[in-house]
Amino acid sequence: MTFVIVEECVDVKDKTCLDVCPVDCIYEGPRSLYINPDECIDCAACEPVCPVEAIYKEEELPAEYLHYKEVNAEFFTETTSLGNPGSALEVGRQDVDHPRVAELPQRSPAQI
Ligand code: F3S
Repeated sequence: MTFVIVEECVDVKDKTCLDVCPVDCIYEGPRSLYINPDECIDCAACEPVCPVEAIYKEEELPAEYLHYKEVNAEFFTETTSLGNPGSALEVGRQDVDHPRVAELPQRSPAQI
């Protein structure tokens, strides 16, 4: 099991989730953050603190966001070569997003 960040995070990036993750497994791209499914310990601390409800338990993903399970996982294996570095703070912000995030239309503040 893991938690998954979905489209609501895109262009919002509130980052409160980073403050509560005890294992530092939430990594930053230019437009969204991504949870490393191999490093997530399923503690559920991040889910309630996101102000835009962008974080779901993988089993509870809404149908329209099911692909975000792959989006989060592939960020570490295909989009970047991060793998499982063990600390988002140490690797810092990445300069690419998963292609399915990068292709989303830019959201204006009024839409957020
Ligand atoms: Fe994104 Fe919510 Fe975290 S907007 S950065 S998932 S607190």
